[in-house]
Amino acid sequence: MSSSVVTAYVDGRYLPLAEARVSPMDRGFLFGDGAYEVIPVYSRRAFRLDEHVARLANTLGAMRLPNPHAAEEWKALILELVARNPWDDQSVYLQVTRGADTKRNHAFPGPEVKPTVFLMSEPLVTPSAGQRASGIAAVSAADIRWLRCDLKTVSMLANCLLRQHAIDHGCMETVLFRDSFLTEGAASSVFVCKDGVLLVPPKSHLMLPGITYDVVLELARTHGMKHEVREVLEAEVRSADELWMTSSTKEVLAITTLDGRPVGDGKPGPMGRQMHAWYQDFKNTVMRNG
Ligand code: PDD
Repeated sequence: MSSSVVTAYVDGRYLPLAEARVSPMDRGFLFGDGAYEVIPVYSRRAFRLDEHVARLANTLGAMRLPNPHAAEEWKALILELVARNPWDDQSVYLQVTRGADTKRNHAFPGPEVKPTVFLMSEPLVTPSAGQRASGIAAVSAADIRWLRCDLKTVSMLANCLLRQHAIDHGCMETVLFRDSFLTEGAASSVFVCKDGVLLVPPKSHLMLPGITYDVVLELARTHGMKHEVREVLEAEVRSADELWMTSSTKEVLAITTLDGRPVGDGKPGPMGRQMHAWYQDFKNTVMRNG
């Protein structure tokens, strides 16, 4: 599909993505001064839309960037973009920056500078059957990010370096440790299974509050899978029976090798298969046919 048919949105206007433009003075470009969201869309219905819009509002609030839209306006913009694009299942990308001033200045511009709002969409690509069957390989690294990893900002250099570290090692994801504790992945949340119990760190300033993280914990609660939300030691990750990465686009995906060593028996395990099935069932009943 040529990019000219992909519809994007910039500052009040829907237009072909290939024609979308922002100024080089935009603070998103100059400083990484912006917030973003990635929202999966199934059968043209945006998954957990209220939660994504609320997380965006939270990021903007912490950045001291006045939210340019009320929740209902955001939802209308997103659904209009979905309607204007050709795919039933989409991944909507949404970004708000502090706008373009006439001079480069670290300090915030005055109220005359309006935020830049950009949205685009692409077909939703979830893991392939092959990736689900064998799981994926991950490496580990020290979490070199800042102390506000709970904010979904476009200042993503550390995440990009950490994801590239995985690619350089022929892997898909980097599992991050800070002071010998698990935080998350370069672009995903990470869950651990040990002796039949699902473990995940509590939300804090050291990790993104994942929308999929919440769904997985809700499903564990609903179906009675034993789980503990608590700090997880690096040693527990390294001796895990199963590891999963979760995100809006990867859903629930087994990590079957870490730093070249098998996780458990090196195959996707029963708890992950079960959670993946519950996730698909939830998605299909609540989203596609709900
Ligand atoms: N990333 N942690 C980090 C650092 C992430 O970048 C993401 C998602 C997640 C999972 O969050 P959610 O379940 O809400 O997708 C956790 C998106 C998909 C991205 O940057 O493309």
